[in-house]
Amino acid sequence: MKIVTVIGARPQIIKAAAISRAIRNKFSEQIKEVIVHTGQHYDENMSEVFFNELQIPRPDYNLEVGSGNHGAQTAKMLEGMEEIILKEKPDAVVVYGDTNSTVAGGLAASKLHVPLVHIEAGLRSFNKAMPEEVNRIVCDHTSTLLFSPTKKGVENLAREGFKLDNIAPFTIDNPKVYHCGDIMYDNSRYFSEVSDTQSTILRKENISGKFILSTIHRNSNTDDPVKLQSIFEALLDISDRSQMTIVLPLHPRTKKMMEVNLTSYLRSKIEASKYLKIIPPVSFLDVIALEKNADMVITDSGGVQKEAFYFKKPCLILRPETEWVEIVECGNAILCDANKDRIINAFDHFKDNRPTEYPELFGDGKAADFICKEIIKHIG
Ligand code: UD1
Ligand code: UDP
Repeated sequence: MKIVTVIGARPQIIKAAAISRAIRNKFSEQIKEVIVHTGQHYDENMSEVFFNELQIPRPDYNLEVGSGNHGAQTAKMLEGMEEIILKEKPDAVVVYGDTNSTVAGGLAASKLHVPLVHIEAGLRSFNKAMPEEVNRIVCDHTSTLLFSPTKKGVENLAREGFKLDNIAPFTIDNPKVYHCGDIMYDNSRYFSEVSDTQSTILRKENISGKFILSTIHRNSNTDDPVKLQSIFEALLDISDRSQMTIVLPLHPRTKKMMEVNLTSYLRSKIEASKYLKIIPPVSFLDVIALEKNADMVITDSGGVQKEAFYFKKPCLILRPETEWVEIVECGNAILCDANKDRIINAFDHFKDNRPTEYPELFGDGKAADFICKEIIKHIG
């Protein structure tokens, strides 16, 4: 059978590595994968770097849509995806997560009556102001196979009317919902060992002793001057008081918006800080090395908050809510929004009370194998 896999933004490129690896190692006789890169992310360190180090096959197509307003960006992707699906005539289209690339792939497939497979289905923030929430809902409701990484994801889908006892053959009107574990857990386990031998980031950036890893890129934080200001004030306070370095691999969106939304006074404090270490975005092997060696993680990233959990690090989430509610419920992460006092208080809390239990919430590291088997069984 032939599947068309749609990727475009950094986290999807990384996620695709798990399924591509499973196909290469176990299912190459049954599945032929055609990879479409929408071009949503295009900087070398936001895209190319991952293909090389994670052994993802080169994309068969690159739509090169680049950046833009959501409508224009998604429209260009939709048009490009439609052409490719008509030409390739795949048995299914596979999309990951919740970005504009995901929704474009999903809409194009469903309009052409090609079964859609959504990996990372069912996650909800219950905040539709978040562009990703709308993308998730649209994709889930146009999918034939929905693979949810968590039990909560399955519950969310059931609440939206998905029946959990549908029987095959599955279609867009009779979809199948699975609870299968997280392919990013597969990836974190697999690449953790590779990172141990291959990452040079700690040496290259001269990072030693206790440090904190931070990543910031959510539009709700970067595009709001009050929130962005609050986050950086908190990071400066925490690093100054604890005398711990905060390593911040900077997303290009945040780099751009810091110029616009931070006062020149705060920018000069950041530049002068002995402890705030801002570096360009790093590769996946390097981010794993940072996560494994950090004392704590402060992030608004969906992926990074989970990886903090995988590597048993307490995490401050710079959002009012999360889709990965389990890690908050078990006390290993704290929701701080972009509120300076809440961020500082959560840091002080974890400094004195490190969580010791990290339950197995995200499967057994074999989600990608399971997904491939079910695709083979039910598609085509
Ligand atoms: C997108 C996803 C978000 C995901 C994030 C992962 C949507 C709606 N958002 O957000 O869910 O968490 O990717 O990182 O799909 N830019 C560059 N170089 C690049 C890519 C982006 O300079 O290679 C800059 C551009 O100024 C661009 C801005 O970053 O306008 C935002 O990029 P965009 O892809 O629109 O959204 P993200 O914030 O990256
Ligand atoms: N990541 C990376 N380099 C970085 C920052 C993050 O490889 O400099 C990885 C991170 O480990 C995770 C993924 O990118 O696997 C998460 O992507 P991002 O934070 O951009 O988006 P989100 O997960 O919030 O959608």
